[in-house]
Formats: sequence, C-alpha cells, structure tokens
Amino acid sequence: NRSMSAKPFKVLITHPEVPQSGIDLLKEHCELTQVLSLPPSRAELLEKIKGVDAVLWGGHSPLNAEALDAAGPQLKCISTMSAGIDYVDVAEMKRRKIPLGHSPTVLDAAVADLAVGLLIAAGRRFHEARRKIDSDNWESYHLNWLLGQDVRDSVVGFFGFGGIGQAIAKRLSGFDIDQVLYTTRRRIDQETEKELNAKKVDFDELLAKSDFVVIASPLTPATQGIFNATAFNKMKRTAVLVNIARGKIVNQNDLYDALKSNRIFAAGIDVMDPEPLPPTDKLLTLDNVVVLPHIGSATTRTRSDMSTIAAHNVLRGLAGEPMLSPAY
Ligand code: DGY
Repeated sequence: NRSMSAKPFKVLITHPEVPQSGIDLLKEHCELTQVLSLPPSRAELLEKIKGVDAVLWGGHSPLNAEALDAAGPQLKCISTMSAGIDYVDVAEMKRRKIPLGHSPTVLDAAVADLAVGLLIAAGRRFHEARRKIDSDNWESYHLNWLLGQDVRDSVVGFFGFGGIGQAIAKRLSGFDIDQVLYTTRRRIDQETEKELNAKKVDFDELLAKSDFVVIASPLTPATQGIFNATAFNKMKRTAVLVNIARGKIVNQNDLYDALKSNRIFAAGIDVMDPEPLPPTDKLLTLDNVVVLPHIGSATTRTRSDMSTIAAHNVLRGLAGEPMLSPAY
C-alpha cells in the first residue's frame, strides 16, 4: 500500500500561503512540513528546516548560509516561488553545490499587464487626477487641465529585456508605439527584435531617446542604484519611468528629487526601497508618482502557477534531474 509506505523525502514549505497546486504535487511523494506563522517567522523557518531534503521557498526571507547551516548537509535542492532571487546568497548555494530553481515565465503576463497599467496611469496622471476630485479641485473648464503623455508614437526603452520586458513590449505593440529600445548585456535574437521592433542601445541612448523608460531587469551589484540623479538628468523632461523589477535599482532619493523638480514627468512603481514603504515616506506626498505595493505577480492563477513550477523544480531536484526553471 503506497500511501502507508514511508515517503522518501522531507520537504519544507517556508510560507503558510503557498498555493495548494504545488503542495498537492509534493505531497504525493514527500513528507511535508510547513512554516505556519504569518508573517512567516524566521525562527520557525530555522527550526523546521533542520534535516529536510528540499525546500519550497515561498516569500523573501534571506536564503543564506544561516538557513543552509540550519538545514544540514543532507539538503539536496531548493526552489523559490519568485522570479527575482536577490534575497538568495547564490554564491553560497553554488559553493555548496545545491541546485536552485525559481519560477519566472509564468508571471511574465501578470507583471506585464501591471506594467502597462502603471505606464498609462503615470503618463496620464491618474493619481494627481484622483486627488483633484478629493480636494474639490475639479477644473475641467481649462483646456490644458491634467494633460498627459501619449503612448502612441512614443519610444519605449527597456532597461532589461527578458521575458517580462518582452511581454510588456508585445502588449504595447497594440498601442501604436514608434519604437522599442532596450539595454541588456546580450542582444536578444534577431527574429524577436524584428517582431517587437526593438533595437539594442547603450544605457545613455536609452535614457536620452525614450519617452517611457521601463525597468525590467534583475537587481544585481551592476544594476543597484543605476537610476540615480545622473541618469535622470539624461532623460527627457517629458519622460515617464516605470519600475516593476526591484526598488533598489533606483536611487529613491534621487527619484524623489527628479519628480519633485519635474526633471522627469512622472513615475509608476510597483517596487521600492524599503518594502513595505512607510506611509509617511516623502515619495507618497508627490502628485506625479503612482505607487503600488509590489503586486506585479499577484493574481490567483499566476501565484498558483508559480507554486506548481516551484514544486516541479523541487521534485526534479530530488530525483537528480535538471529543474524546470533552474536559477543557474
Ligand atoms: C518575483 O517573483 O520576483 C516577485 O517579486 C514576487 O516574489
């Protein structure tokens, strides 16, 4: 009787809200333990990780030497339930030769939808406009009231042009944009370039020529703080910045100054530094920034798909097979 036989692997789920899809897959083959506290407590994670064979890492608790030491040497693999892995000490994982999976791709569409929403919301001044109603300043008798930026015929520049960036560009092609520019380390394949009307340029050209600049790159030592005052000063005064990647890619103090002084037109951001952003943060006093609390991948289906991918990664890692989405 299979259900009575001992399951060969112990797997920890580090978050109480990991969608059932992944848990159902794992529990067929593995004995599961789960962090139950909410917000998930680090102490509970460090306690429950002892002796497990694998981990489905939900949430952004640091995956570092402390956690790996607590787990012990039998640990075989880990998968995060996220695209970004900036909270993982990758060097430490590699040093210990532990395979790491993550869950990109399945969230491209949800994040891209949100990015298009932010681009339009910031360019067309949604936040400021709503505030006009709240403050009883509806002045539509002006002909130049709340004029925003057109998406049609615009140049959209992508800092980072992987799955998410390309999904945004694909959506924007329906808005009759003029040109897509992108900055990445490696050029993407020429067929995709042609399909998306995309051209690789250097960072300075991206900043100078784009009407909308979309940050869609991972946070790495090379990208941290790269959007600073120097960068904002190279952008068009009418430019709109969108960030759906990681807050730390932007120097937020410099962003505040650039928005406050109208050095750039507006920003739409789903990610910031720190998260959660305190409600007293000066950024929130501005009219020309649309701020969302990191909800890019927050749709029911996407979260469920992320859980499924993470579980497949774990199962493959345990079987000694290549993961579905290896992080390295
Ligand atoms: C990601 O997948 O990286 C998102 O930020 C949610 O974790």
